Amino acid sequence: MTKNFFRRIWGIAGAVSVRSKILGIVLGFIVLLGAGVTIQSRYALTATMTAQLEEQSVSVSRDVAARATDPILLNDLLGLHDLLDETLANNPNVRYAFIVDPQGQVIAQTFEGGFPLDLLTLNSVDPNEHHHTALIQTNEGLIWDAAVPILDGKIGTARIGLSDASMQSALSTLTAQLLLTALLVSATGVVVAVFLTWILTRPIFALVSATQSVAKGDFTPRVLRWADDEIGDLAEAFNAMIEELARTDELRREREVLRRQLLEKVITTQEDERRRIARELHDSTSQNLTSLIVGLRIMETNCAQCAAQSKATDMRQVASKTLDEVHDLSMRLRPRVLDDLGLAAALERLVSEWQARYKTPVDVAIQLNERLPGDVETAIYRIVQEALTNIVRHAQAHSASIMVERRGDIVRAIVEDDGVGFNSKTNHGERHLGLLGMRERAELLNGTLTIESAVERGTSIFIEIPIQSEKVEAAV
Ligand SMILES: Nc1ncnc2c1ncn2[C@@H]1O[C@H](COP(=O)(O)OP(=O)(O)OP(=O)(O)O)[C@@H](O)[C@H]1O
Ligand SMILES: [Mg+2]
Repeated sequence: MTKNFFRRIWGIAGAVSVRSKILGIVLGFIVLLGAGVTIQSRYALTATMTAQLEEQSVSVSRDVAARATDPILLNDLLGLHDLLDETLANNPNVRYAFIVDPQGQVIAQTFEGGFPLDLLTLNSVDPNEHHHTALIQTNEGLIWDAAVPILDGKIGTARIGLSDASMQSALSTLTAQLLLTALLVSATGVVVAVFLTWILTRPIFALVSATQSVAKGDFTPRVLRWADDEIGDLAEAFNAMIEELARTDELRREREVLRRQLLEKVITTQEDERRRIARELHDSTSQNLTSLIVGLRIMETNCAQCAAQSKATDMRQVASKTLDEVHDLSMRLRPRVLDDLGLAAALERLVSEWQARYKTPVDVAIQLNERLPGDVETAIYRIVQEALTNIVRHAQAHSASIMVERRGDIVRAIVEDDGVGFNSKTNHGERHLGLLGMRERAELLNGTLTIESAVERGTSIFIEIPIQSEKVEAAV
């Protein structure tokens, strides 16, 4: 519960910028300090002034009591009035003063609009007490009422009322001054905090922007070391890291170029070698086998009666089968038709033999009006060949289709089947090189290979290879 609460608070506070956090902390502390000091000062001042007011009320009342003895004894009501008026005039905080005789009758008072009788009951003093104070709530605010017995209460009681307005005004002035001070300190604090956060966040922003550049593969930005502090150390470490990254990236690029060159070489050499062996098989081995078959056929016809006839027939059949196999092998190694007539013819030949062998219908649609560069033709031929091999080995498809077309400077090929499909995101491991090889071939020619397949939904392989115009010319 508390954990969740803190997590939610941190979710809100953590999301604001560092600048706002520092500003918030500084302002928060200043406001807290201002409020604390104001409350504390008001509290202390109120306590002191309350005690002083009470004391003052008692002392004024005592003074009135002392000075009222003679006029009361002499029954000098005028003198008594003068005394009370004088007391009021000399003490601006005294709101009223009056004298009560022992029977509770007011004999002199300072109220102009009639004496409020209920005031009599609000405070009283025992004859054996020196004084008695009471706090009275009036329309004007609080009044400290002090009652002092005159001649131990034998001839009456003096009462005066002291307003706490002066205390309230002192408190208001103090509060206003303290709040003003807090406001000024807050304003200064904000300016200082803004400056501080600017100093602190400037290198952080520089670091963030440099990191974003590095993430995009640009290793050129360097961060300035603004100060000799921890952030300065971080900037230096960051710069060292970028340099290291740049070096590693350079090395990686060099290796990538080398790998591509090597791969290109391997593929070219492999194709050349295949072409050479295929030609050899076709031109030499096939010719020899054909001669052998012809010889054996002559032998067969010439010795119709001889015992070796059936042997010759067997040998001719073996030789014929071997010739077919050699032809097949030569075709698979490198069909001559690819070099002689181009991709369309080679693919059609490949598909017709494939259909004849595996009995799976393949729909072929090839739209190429001219020959493509040799490496592009070879790459597409090999990719389609491997895709067809995969269909036989893995797809259990009922039908397949091949589409090849040229649109502007891009050759696009699609090989589809309606087989069991597979998860193309799975890494099939080191033993499965077919798809990897297909992709490598496409990428070596700056092309792309995309596989769309899902279990039980068939497989589609999309290949796109760009053609550079000079390559077309070279091929034509
Ligand atoms: N058309 C397809 N239909 C269903 N599964 C396929 C298809 N093509 C590939 N796969 C799956 O992808 C895997 C990887 O294919 P890949 O051609 O890379 O290797 P492979 O055919 O197993 O071995 P090789 O290296 O001899 O080609 C296959 O083992 C198969 O499970
Ligand atoms: Mg394969």
